[in-house]
Amino acid sequence: MSLDVHRDLALAEKSKNEPLYAIASDGDHLEAERKRLGVLHKSITNLFDNKLIFAPVTLTKGDHILDCGTGTGIWANQVAKVVPGDVVVEGADISRRFFPSPGENSAVIFHNLSTFDLPTEWENRFKLVNQRLMIACFSRPQWETALQQIRRVLSPDGWVQLVEVQQKHEFSATHPKYQRLLDMLHPMMRSRGFILDIGLEVEEMMQRGGFQNVTRTRRAMPIGEWGGEPGREGWAWLVGAYGGMKDAILQAGAVESGEEFDRMMREAFEESNEIPGLAHDMEVICGQKVV
Ligand SMILES: C[S@@+](CC[C@H](N)C(=O)[O-])C[C@H]1O[C@@H](n2cnc3c(N)ncnc32)[C@H](O)[C@@H]1O
Repeated sequence: MSLDVHRDLALAEKSKNEPLYAIASDGDHLEAERKRLGVLHKSITNLFDNKLIFAPVTLTKGDHILDCGTGTGIWANQVAKVVPGDVVVEGADISRRFFPSPGENSAVIFHNLSTFDLPTEWENRFKLVNQRLMIACFSRPQWETALQQIRRVLSPDGWVQLVEVQQKHEFSATHPKYQRLLDMLHPMMRSRGFILDIGLEVEEMMQRGGFQNVTRTRRAMPIGEWGGEPGREGWAWLVGAYGGMKDAILQAGAVESGEEFDRMMREAFEESNEIPGLAHDMEVICGQKVV
């Protein structure tokens, strides 16, 4: 009996730090997900007036920047082009699958490692840590771990900035068909311990977890024809995200079949074009390390 308890505890501890990325991005899905991350990057930067750095940080010669969960490194690559040349930009991801190939010219140094396990020698190293779009990767306890790790590698006056897509929206009154998609998605997210009200909860975690000057900014990202080009792009990445999560949603039993899922997606898409106003909030949360 005691052996089982030990085994269960070991499993719980292991799963606490295991990646949970719910969006399919291997094999046939790889290129689609890479493209989706590109569209989403463009949408986010357009929404925030082409800003890449939100934290009020001053970067000088020899400073280091880290992009955690860097994916394709699109943010890191663009940041490397706008900061002074002697600022070192690094990207880290648990998977290499999206990393630029060695032949591609990049000023960014890429590392294949998990945010839950950042190297001890990185302590106090980074003036700025960026982390974006981890809502479908981290459970609540994993967010706590990630923030502790990020805090550890920040320099004494360093800043973290997080960018996330808010999930806690209520569209029943205006867009009931889109609301049905959320009602199908949310049980899968809850079953994996993902946080729906991401901006608020992460802001509170940072306030409790050794960060000061914590701020949260929200902007509504339009979804559908009513939003013009940004609205069309909004659908493009959203459809990609739902498509990538289809298997996880079916596994969670939130919808009866793949055909039913596809039908719901089509109906929500038509509704978003017929009824203006559908939007998801993008949240930017910044905080400075308390020494
Ligand atoms: C949705 S993508 C976001 C990529 C990038 N941040 C962006 O904004 O384009 C999530 C990325 O997080 C990575 N990831 C998931 N769990 C991770 C972990 N524990 N440590 C580091 N990276 C992780 C995934 O491999 C994936 O590349």
